[in-house]
Amino acid sequence: MASFKTLDDLTDISGKRVLVRVDLNVPCKDGKVTDATRIERVAPTILELSDKGAKVILLAHFGRPKNGPEAEFSLAVIQSAVEAVLDRRVHFAGDCIGEPAHEAVAALEDGGILLLENTRFHKGEEKNDPDFVKALAANGDIFVNDAFSAAHRAHASTEGLAHHMPAYAGRTMQAELEALEAGLGNPKRPVVAIVGGAKVSTKIDLLKNLVRKVDALVIGGGMANTFLAAQGIDVGKSLCEHDLADTAKAILAEAQDAGCAIVLPSDVVVAREFKANAANETVAATAIPADAMALDVGPDSIQAVNDWIAKAETLVCGTARSALSKSSLSTPPPSRSPNSPPKRPRRASSSPSPAAAIPSRRSITPMWPTTLPMSRPPAAPSWNGWRASPSQAWTC
Ligand code: 3PG
Repeated sequence: MASFKTLDDLTDISGKRVLVRVDLNVPCKDGKVTDATRIERVAPTILELSDKGAKVILLAHFGRPKNGPEAEFSLAVIQSAVEAVLDRRVHFAGDCIGEPAHEAVAALEDGGILLLENTRFHKGEEKNDPDFVKALAANGDIFVNDAFSAAHRAHASTEGLAHHMPAYAGRTMQAELEALEAGLGNPKRPVVAIVGGAKVSTKIDLLKNLVRKVDALVIGGGMANTFLAAQGIDVGKSLCEHDLADTAKAILAEAQDAGCAIVLPSDVVVAREFKANAANETVAATAIPADAMALDVGPDSIQAVNDWIAKAETLVCGTARSALSKSSLSTPPPSRSPNSPPKRPRRASSSPSPAAAIPSRRSITPMWPTTLPMSRPPAAPSWNGWRASPSQAWTC
């Protein structure tokens, strides 16, 4: 029994204004969406609400604008891609609060879909400012959060709104939470978790929680550099939160106490520049040149992760990101090890959506590479050779 409300609890919503937080932070090039996966993920929730006659009002962020409205971060660019995925008309309002939003919401027909401009054009979004939350809430009767990949941010449109109106999980959020419960509630062991991302600072609680629950924690992304540096390793110019050395050490100590193996890169791919076609080489993680930055992990690290994945009975997999997912920087996939999981195995989970955890090793899907759509260059290093499918990953 879910401990949260879902769309199944929303029955009579015809004509109701439903604020739906989605993650539309999709990659774009020359004003075109280059990967619509995130839009596809939230489409079922939007269509279900629309089909029930609700006025569907989409809230989303796009990129990281720092100074209010900026054309390059306007969600107007995404509007036609959302229409294409939904195969429905999607209206657009040039602000997520105030008159533009009020007028567009008032004009919305039952079942209509409206995309509001980037919530991060207002400083109150990231500050979770109560006045901004109220301004957002003025446009809705009900709040549905389907932005699991943005749920680690306690922002106005992700967390604040849930305290202001009846709140429900969208279908993507529901599937992710249910899969997490399956993976971390009473899982089959060993449990292996894979986390990536740029910063330890945004995931301290998550990491502390995971080391108490899993048997091995694989750390990738820029976070790995912070853990390496905390152990006295010189990471050169790599992305690193040096000021979090003590936090990283505390997490390592907690992991040891809990019997959780921490898996960090043993070799990395480094470059002097973060750009396409940059010359790169593989070095030991302990031998990163002072003028270079780690942009991915090397083959030994990939093998180590794949060995853990092969052992796992339950795999909790976060976003695997790599600077080398830029194709012109990319290296070929490693050959499959004889011990690696079978190709395209049957999924044990019947979950219809991205699953946070995979309840059986038979459901680990080999693939290459593992990346989720990003709107900005991803953090490094990551794990470009993991064989877990991104369709079975949750972003952390
Ligand atoms: C993402 O792209 O990871 C999510 O949309 C969250 O974006 P953020 O890291 O800018 O909050």
